[in-house]
Amino acid sequence: MTVTAPAVAMSDATFRVLRDFIYERLGIYFQEKKKYLLEGRLGKRVQLLRLAGFEEYLHVLRYGAQKDLEFEYLCDAVTINETFFFRNEPQFDALETVVLPEVFQARRAAGADAVRVWSAACSSGEEPYTLAMIFHEKLRHRFPGMRMEVVGTDISSTVLHTAKKGTYGDYATRNTPPHYLQKYFTVDGQRRTVKDEIRAMVRFQHLNLFERGFMRSMRDFDLILCRNVMIYFDTPAKVQVVSDLYDSLRFGGYLVIGYSELLHGISNAFRVVSFPKTTLYKKER
Ligand SMILES: C[S@@+](CC[C@H](N)C(=O)[O-])C[C@H]1O[C@@H](n2cnc3c(N)ncnc32)[C@H](O)[C@@H]1O
Repeated sequence: MTVTAPAVAMSDATFRVLRDFIYERLGIYFQEKKKYLLEGRLGKRVQLLRLAGFEEYLHVLRYGAQKDLEFEYLCDAVTINETFFFRNEPQFDALETVVLPEVFQARRAAGADAVRVWSAACSSGEEPYTLAMIFHEKLRHRFPGMRMEVVGTDISSTVLHTAKKGTYGDYATRNTPPHYLQKYFTVDGQRRTVKDEIRAMVRFQHLNLFERGFMRSMRDFDLILCRNVMIYFDTPAKVQVVSDLYDSLRFGGYLVIGYSELLHGISNAFRVVSFPKTTLYKKER
């Protein structure tokens, strides 16, 4: 086997400083054996910026005139943005048939005219748009006069830019039921764009799940999806994020995490609610 040398080599000491910087700011923990990943992904950046090495790159991240912009680049380089419309159908089935009708009824009984939904770590927007389409297709007529407000947040400005445009290729829409494809997208060659009536329901915002001040500003949600992001966090980071998400929910609201993720050992504040092929978490009084 041929092992390719990294574009720029990173010393073990610098790796540890960079790893801790990423962990503190993003909650993502790179083990020693993943050093090659950082070397590979960020080495190209070090070259592009014509820096002497990773030590100088760290200086740019901490003190550079463009440090916020560079942090954005770092986020893009170290996060995984994989997502698609209707990802994990059993979860959307549970939301459509039980959870959303329940929270809509509760809000209506409280005299409110809107249900608030947060897609936390929404990547390029497929998840919040899926929720908006389900509302439009299945719930709007059952709850006349009521709205669903959807907020999609992510740490990466690049994916949020795509989300706001709402234009996707085949990969993103491969799991979308044909009826939804026809009804809620316009087609231009190989690309599909989410129609305005759905885009108008979703607002996108930059948010780092570890910035407590911003997390505390997210309040009174009836439903939060935080799927397939906590897999990159270690246990203390998960405990903090889940506790903040709990505070962001109204009583009676639900939290949805990734299909392969568990809250066992992370939080026992929620009631575990089982649905066919999925488990959701309810904040009860
Ligand atoms: C794999 S995608 C998940 C997208 C969608 N939730 C899904 O399940 O299809 C993970 C997303 O988490 C975002 N992310 C990673 N760390 C984050 C953090 N600390 N705060 C907010 N978003 C973060 C990444 O930018 C990426 O878009």
